[in-house]
Amino acid sequence: LNRRSLLKASALLGTAGAAGLLAGRFGLPATAFAAAAPVEMKARAIEVDITGKGATRGMMTYGEGPVPPVLRARQGEAFAARLVNALEEPTTIHWHGVRVPVGMDGVPLLSQPYVYPGDGFDYAFTPPDAGTFWYHPHCNTLEQMGRGLAGMLIVEGKDDPVFDAEIPLMLRDWRLGGDGQFIAPFKARDAAKAGTYGTLRTANWQKEPQIDAPAGGLVRLRLLAADVTRIYTMQLEGAQATVIAIDGNPVPRRFALDTLMVGPGQRLDLALRMPDAEGAIARLMDIRGSQPKPIASFRATGPSLRRAPGDLGPLTANPVPAFDASAAASLDMKLSATAETAPKTSICGTLGYTFWAINNVAWSGDTDPTAPLAELKQGRSYRIRLANPTPHAHPIHLHGMNFVVLSSSARPVQSFVTDTWLMLPDEQVELGLVADNPGDWVFHCHIIEHQKSGMTTYLRVV
Ligand code: C2O
Ligand code: CU
Repeated sequence: LNRRSLLKASALLGTAGAAGLLAGRFGLPATAFAAAAPVEMKARAIEVDITGKGATRGMMTYGEGPVPPVLRARQGEAFAARLVNALEEPTTIHWHGVRVPVGMDGVPLLSQPYVYPGDGFDYAFTPPDAGTFWYHPHCNTLEQMGRGLAGMLIVEGKDDPVFDAEIPLMLRDWRLGGDGQFIAPFKARDAAKAGTYGTLRTANWQKEPQIDAPAGGLVRLRLLAADVTRIYTMQLEGAQATVIAIDGNPVPRRFALDTLMVGPGQRLDLALRMPDAEGAIARLMDIRGSQPKPIASFRATGPSLRRAPGDLGPLTANPVPAFDASAAASLDMKLSATAETAPKTSICGTLGYTFWAINNVAWSGDTDPTAPLAELKQGRSYRIRLANPTPHAHPIHLHGMNFVVLSSSARPVQSFVTDTWLMLPDEQVELGLVADNPGDWVFHCHIIEHQKSGMTTYLRVV
């Protein structure tokens, strides 16, 4: 899969908004997106040479492909996508981080029926928030995401500042053997710990892509951690970047990127100031683990635009409801490695193990739901006291609503709005939630092996 084939594929995607795949193209991506006509998202099998050793069989993608499209929507305007299931198993699409009505949330057994092979499902919603979001299946997720089903959804804000370029990067690994073919998606002993890692790292399905960007320009780098397991510690070499948004929402106070952990499911928006000298390289690194690993690099081209990060106005604000600390009810939640109940087998991806639990109940999200962990009153504020007494990190994600991070026992936090919080080992946090979206909303670890072996629950808002 070389850059030329990506460009060709992007051209084919037309109004699905593939501009995000055009790494190396200057200026803002095309925004011609007809909301009235749904984007067709055909989930299907594909074979692509991502290793350089020949095609990998049994990959999955959406749309004309090869890489699932970067979808674009506008804040406050109707968006529609039609899922067509050309796979040989049921699937759904979940719009991660987008505050959708519950019927559009894509969780089988809880918010929508399975979409069986040959069937389709129409998703339609009006995204209230601008920012970087994503989509992925919520059925047999380890397998389906592991084989390729995941992509970025960019919701453009009306008042977003103009950047000199925009580069969406979807980061993910593949679990392939030496012959470039898929190997078992997990090892039980790893699922019971940090999760099973892939063997090939990619950004936009490419190994360490090098992407051109205007010298001295300000680039909006939209990073999506779409891997099923890997937590990154991001660092930039050869350039400066400012953190402008986390998980789709503008940060209250921008700060220079030093190192930042980003867990599965999370997004990081950076204003990258490209080096002035033509040909100079800035490199995004993952410094977690013993060996720093390059993720992607950015090559300065053309005469320097000499931009300053201060030139950027604020991002479009999102209309998130205000948490009311004085009226908030408390909710205690504990992530744990001890389960009292075990899931039954299902058709949608239970691993067959219960290693993890929330409040001692293990549910994989694939079997008929157990009772909700709590029933919340619509419009009321809740203070979630969440504890992680395990020795592993857990990126915890809530569907349908955002929460604000109030405090952490492990680190200083600015109180930003998010949908996924990376719980460190032994960390305790307080999260502020306004229960403003009626329905049943999954709350789970986004390390998919943890999710599928018990670290899943749901909240009911009535
Ligand atoms: Cu990104 Cu329940 O998922
Ligand atoms: Cu976890």
